Amino acid sequence: MTSGIRHFTDLSTTAAATLRGILDDAAARKARLKAGERSRPLEGKVLAMIFDKPSTRTRVSFDVGMRQLGGETIMLTGTEMQLGRSETIADTAKVLSRYVDAIMIRTTAHERLVELTENATVPVINGLTDDTHPCQIMADIMTFEEHRGPVAGKTFAWVGDGNNVLHSLLEASARFGFNLNIAVPKGSEPQQKYVDWSLANGGAVKFTSTAEEAATGADCIVTDCWVSMGQEHRARGHNVFLPYQVNAALMGHANPDALFMHCLPAHRGEEVTDEVIDGPHSVVFDEAENRLHAQKAVLAWCLGA
Ligand code: CP
Ligand code: NVA
Repeated sequence: MTSGIRHFTDLSTTAAATLRGILDDAAARKARLKAGERSRPLEGKVLAMIFDKPSTRTRVSFDVGMRQLGGETIMLTGTEMQLGRSETIADTAKVLSRYVDAIMIRTTAHERLVELTENATVPVINGLTDDTHPCQIMADIMTFEEHRGPVAGKTFAWVGDGNNVLHSLLEASARFGFNLNIAVPKGSEPQQKYVDWSLANGGAVKFTSTAEEAATGADCIVTDCWVSMGQEHRARGHNVFLPYQVNAALMGHANPDALFMHCLPAHRGEEVTDEVIDGPHSVVFDEAENRLHAQKAVLAWCLGA
């Protein structure tokens, strides 16, 4: 952020106080929206959205969020842009910066996000990369706090694949001060640099050998698909992941009032059973809704509204 441009690329690149301020603003904006208040602080502003991967929630929540704030969006897919014909990310960043006020990108390699950020002269927002998904975790922390109060000192358990969502949860553990138990099959561990960053910045991270051990004492159990977008080549027999399925038996190891979270889309019968995702512990649709509110606060922070 040496340029002074307010990029939202990761929880590790955004100060803890800023993240807390964004969540406070998100809660206030949500309350005002529910009370029927309307304001248009981003009137005249345009957000370009680049998608190199599919999306339902990210696409719609950013679009609706900009509209609710009075702004507009342009939806772009990498393959339909000259990006898909080998124009560089750097040149694309410089061109888009002449037209729009902010850029949101969902892409493959994290380096593409970094290159975009380094070359854009407008704020860049990470809408998911192979490595991280910070907007999702902002919505998840907001959701946890709505249901259970301050997240600091609480215990989350991640079971399943050690993927991009877990990497952002690792960063959040340090930024928001909660404990994070992790149970993943051998070969599906998160990247070590995310574990190291979390530990070096105050994260309380514990790896356990079983999902049951991770769930024990947890205030929230989180999982995600076993095969992320673009990771199909890594797909292994689902029997490897079955011991990490979130079912009623696993929820039974967590605290009685534990929440269940999943960023969605879910693969019912794989990483989570119907009885859990549709059951009383589940807050998955609150998470989805809070993508809208959290991202409106991110947009407002990036654009100084
Ligand atoms: N959770 C999430 O990012 O969903 P989409 O892939 O639908 O955007
Ligand atoms: N880990 C998943 C998250 C989808 C929102 C993926 O990257 O496909």
